[in-house]
Amino acid sequence: MSKIFLQFTLFFLILVTGFSFIKEEGRIGSYQVSNNVRLPQTVEDALLLSGSEYPNHYIEKLDLDSARMGEEMIRYGALLDGSNTRISKYFVCTDCHNLVMESEDPSDESPDAVLKYGKLHDIPYLPASTFYGMYNKSTWYNDDYLKKYGDLVYPARDSLVNAIQLCATQCSQGRPMESWEIRSVLHYYKSIQLKIEDLNFTAIELKQFLKHLDTDKHKALAQLKGKYNQANRAHFGTNKIPEIPGYTPNYENGRYVYTKGCLHCHDAEKGITNFTLSNSNLSLNYLHRKKDKYNNLAVPHITRYGTYAMSGRKQYMPMYSFEKLSEEQMLDLLYYIKTGIKK
Ligand code: HEC
Ligand code: HEC
Repeated sequence: MSKIFLQFTLFFLILVTGFSFIKEEGRIGSYQVSNNVRLPQTVEDALLLSGSEYPNHYIEKLDLDSARMGEEMIRYGALLDGSNTRISKYFVCTDCHNLVMESEDPSDESPDAVLKYGKLHDIPYLPASTFYGMYNKSTWYNDDYLKKYGDLVYPARDSLVNAIQLCATQCSQGRPMESWEIRSVLHYYKSIQLKIEDLNFTAIELKQFLKHLDTDKHKALAQLKGKYNQANRAHFGTNKIPEIPGYTPNYENGRYVYTKGCLHCHDAEKGITNFTLSNSNLSLNYLHRKKDKYNNLAVPHITRYGTYAMSGRKQYMPMYSFEKLSEEQMLDLLYYIKTGIKK
């Protein structure tokens, strides 16, 4: 279904892009597009065409070399040629953030949508938001992150540059990044910004959008903004085991959260922590027995609260907000831990 939709959209894009060429041939496609409106490729270009202000992290021209350097720092913590030092001794950004789209439709980044898409594409299920489309958000460290980082979040809320710096020093427990390093990360973010073809525009909506661009920019802007999530919301839970009357936990979903979430950091080989977990009876039984405790070893407690970095012990566990793990998914996870062993 969605594949056909994508093919159709791509076909339509080609049709629009090739418009002038087609016109020369005297064959006008089924969608009449005004001469002065071309369909932009990226969400940023579409925003600017719709009359939106320039974001303060605006980069006029994508520099691929900078983008590559940004990607190296994000994936490996430092440039591969050894010309800078690691941002953090404890983490790399991809321990907590993915670099790919996390849901089928960028306007729906709910835990359900992310889990469904993640299972299908084998994507880690992480407590922080994906960098794909981070460039297109309008505010950062939203809602309850104020509780975790206090006043530090204010300068980061309306500045992507400051958000990166906050995460380098706080979330990653690393050194401050230099401005050329942050710029490289921004170039990389720009390279993985949302493209118009990522948005779930139907052919008719796209036609409407082009018309609005030509005649009513406010409508174009509203339509565009309805097509993707403007901000990563974040609300924190408590260590209580959720009670959801009538809900039947889903074993496969629980297994996915555990394997692609918890084990992303806790796996003995690929993980990053000293506290290792696995799909073995030993691990699952251990977690199951502790589930009702009021301490870090209880799954609902550690998942919702995480831990805090301390001097001398800087590696900490980030918490999963409701927006990253739903209460249903918490029950799925607990169910998998309880029954995984026997299946
Ligand atoms: C230990 C986990 C962890 C690491 C490592 C980490 N982050 Fe984060 N980061 C988070 C969490 C948690 C948030 C809070 C909210 C979110 O992402 O939705 C966050 C937020 C952000 C945000 C703002 C996102 C938003 O929409 O509010 C940016 C930008 C960011 N991080 C960049 C980075 C960069 C760049 C690195 C690597 C230098 C990095 N992070 C490393 C956990 C981490
Ligand atoms: C982004 C990486 C990351 C993810 C994802 C993650 N953890 Fe952790 N976890 C850590 C780190 C780092 C610590 C160690 C914190 C410390 O030493 O204080 C930790 C600590 C723990 C502890 C406590 C160990 C102790 O001795 O106090 C438990 C239990 C735990 N995690 C379970 C989980 C579960 C369950 C999940 C999945 C829902 C999960 N973790 C996901 C990084 C992660």
